[in-house]
Amino acid sequence: MDSKARSKSIVGFSKLNKRGKIKWIVENFFRDPENVMHELMSYWHRNEDQQKVLDGFSENTITNFPMPFSVAPNVVVNGKTYCVPMVIEESSVVAAASSAAKFWMDRGGVRAEVLGTRKLGQVHFNWDGPASMLRAWLPEIERRLRQEAADIVANMEKRGGGIKEIELVTISTFERYYQLRVGFETCDSMGANFINTCLESFAKSLDGFFAGSALVPEHLRSVEVIMSILSNYTPECLVRARVECPVEALGPVGEMSAEEFAWRMNTAVEIAQRDPYRAVTHNKGILNGVDAVVIATGNDFRAVEACCHAFAAKDGQYRGLSTCSINNGIFQFAVELPLALGTIGGLTSLHPMAKRSLELLEQPDAEELMQITAATGLLQNFAAVRSLVTTGIQKGHMKMHLHNILHQLGASEDQKNRADEFFNNRTVSYNAVRDFLAEHPPAE
Ligand code: MEV
Repeated sequence: MDSKARSKSIVGFSKLNKRGKIKWIVENFFRDPENVMHELMSYWHRNEDQQKVLDGFSENTITNFPMPFSVAPNVVVNGKTYCVPMVIEESSVVAAASSAAKFWMDRGGVRAEVLGTRKLGQVHFNWDGPASMLRAWLPEIERRLRQEAADIVANMEKRGGGIKEIELVTISTFERYYQLRVGFETCDSMGANFINTCLESFAKSLDGFFAGSALVPEHLRSVEVIMSILSNYTPECLVRARVECPVEALGPVGEMSAEEFAWRMNTAVEIAQRDPYRAVTHNKGILNGVDAVVIATGNDFRAVEACCHAFAAKDGQYRGLSTCSINNGIFQFAVELPLALGTIGGLTSLHPMAKRSLELLEQPDAEELMQITAATGLLQNFAAVRSLVTTGIQKGHMKMHLHNILHQLGASEDQKNRADEFFNNRTVSYNAVRDFLAEHPPAE
């Protein structure tokens, strides 16, 4: 490493206190250290205990990163009306979800159902013997695994969950490789810690079985457990959400007839079913809604994202996650999403705002949260595609963009109103708004 590169490195950074960490950072990476230090510290929570809670979620924490906490009211799911918390930094998303929620509120709301809640975990190992032998021993292996994990599972079993099926998996092109694929039910918790603890206990038991069981011949006693970890691919932890109404109840939408609108929506969804380039963007729209709720409720949005994308490609081609149909004059729009969510444990019970989000949703259990989240993804997708097939997406975006620029330039309320009117059919740019404000000073 040359001396320039080394001057930016540090030994023992994690041992510095928070001020020490910030000081080192601002002095080494910023041109205006004092101001930056002040700015970073301005985001500290004024309540020290709350700050400690936030610091505890990560390492080398120096400050907080504020994100807007919004709500989409009027989200009707299975007849119950929710005010859905959404944490997202992209303009128009919450407005779009709210508008679609209101639209469908008057047409029966969203119907949602959980199709399954199975989570999965894997113990990956290498062994020299044949699969037929392992299959024959599987009942005995399983008995040991379950027995030795009994203490870990006891509480979860009391709540109605626990270890479900244990299967042996092989991959024909991968010599000596075996896998135990384990199904879990984790009730209202996302269950990552529980699953990983069980799997690590299984790995130990597996070692014990091969080393000590009389079934195993001497020359096959050695097993190499490679790793034990949950799988974030949970295609059986699935929720379905749909909206439907007679085609004529859809519109007209702007100048478009209800029939044409329905046909365009249907075609747009069909395009996402067939073309991966469109499908990724289409699904990004669904995940705009899903992620925002997942983050607001303290769930793991990386896991949800990874799983949804894998699910979108489950038949070998990446496809849109929503479907649309028009049958006998009924328009239906639906999504099926694998959402492994929890409402107890982990961040859901530690993050102060995640707790408030769950309170706002009236303390749903995990299945209800899956339904609310899928409904929000569905509404988001409906709103995005509706914009795309009618006015285009930029109209709504530009309005928000205009408001952000006006705010940045310190426009008065009266200037903002006049700018709204002026830019209704004109292109918004920073320079155009600045010129407009210069030509239209605030009213006296
Ligand atoms: C933007 O964040 C999301 C959209 O691109 C989704 C879509 O195209 O369906 C509008």
